[in-house]
Amino acid sequence: MSASKPAATTKLGKDLLDIDSLTKDEIQLYLDTAESMWEINKRSIKKVPTLRGKLVANLFFESSTRTRFSFEIAERRLSADSISFTAAGSSVSKGETLLDTAKNLMAMAPDAIVIRHQRSGAPHMLARELPCAIVNAGDGAHEHPTQALLDAFTIRRRKGRLAGLRVAICGDVLHSRVARSNVSLLTKMGADVTLSGPRTLMPVGVEQYGARCVNRIEAAVEDADVVMMLRVQKERGGGLGYPNDREFFELFGLTPERRRLARRDAIVMHPGPMNRGVEIDSSVADGPDSAILDQVEAGVAIRMAVLYLLIGSSGEE
Ligand code: CP
Repeated sequence: MSASKPAATTKLGKDLLDIDSLTKDEIQLYLDTAESMWEINKRSIKKVPTLRGKLVANLFFESSTRTRFSFEIAERRLSADSISFTAAGSSVSKGETLLDTAKNLMAMAPDAIVIRHQRSGAPHMLARELPCAIVNAGDGAHEHPTQALLDAFTIRRRKGRLAGLRVAICGDVLHSRVARSNVSLLTKMGADVTLSGPRTLMPVGVEQYGARCVNRIEAAVEDADVVMMLRVQKERGGGLGYPNDREFFELFGLTPERRRLARRDAIVMHPGPMNRGVEIDSSVADGPDSAILDQVEAGVAIRMAVLYLLIGSSGEE
């Protein structure tokens, strides 16, 4: 059994650093390849030998549940060897720099490094310095490209297309790498995106993202096909943008009443982890329109596709 590579002429770069620098064809290739991976994940034996002999190093300098576990599962399902590194317990706590850490890991010859880092641009710096593939698993408030790919994959599976859909992305846009990557991907693929949130949690220059911007959540959600809520990122200062959680929920939270403003067949998304009762009501998060756990499932298929396309070599399967 093996993963079948879609017949495509699209040539990807060495790394996956952001959505901004991907073409529509490259995005399409990732999404189409994830369909093959999705099929593998539905088999009783969910493992193929495609990346046998390849080594992936997972470097997580920030906490993660979904991204880290889904990369690790993706690596195992493709038969890659993998090592996982967290800053706590490593020599980073003795003052070693990111570049020194990465160069030392490089000496052990990984084929790919997956990195999550609190500093925007950290994966780009590694990509310039190291010969192996670098995959951005979230850098500061900049980008989270595999999240946007898995979100697009989820939407495409649920709605059959991306072009022409009305997508509302609501909440703490200021600190959200998920919002930035999603706006970039969805607008490239022809979706109509609206951003909303408190003015204090909207980035300066947000108009340049290429999405419509409104303050009131009701204006964003009305007639939407997809409602994507964002986590208030208290660890990055998101809680300073409004008086208290109760007030945020009253003015900007996705309640059942606000959900009803969207199309009857709309889906509700959230990248996780959720602040229940702050940006989203539990009855909506766990309700019949929720695609939140579909997103998590899609994460494994997308990360398998990314690793396969970047470090899987044809003819060796
Ligand atoms: N969506 C997401 O990035 O979740 P984690 O922080 O748990 O990886």
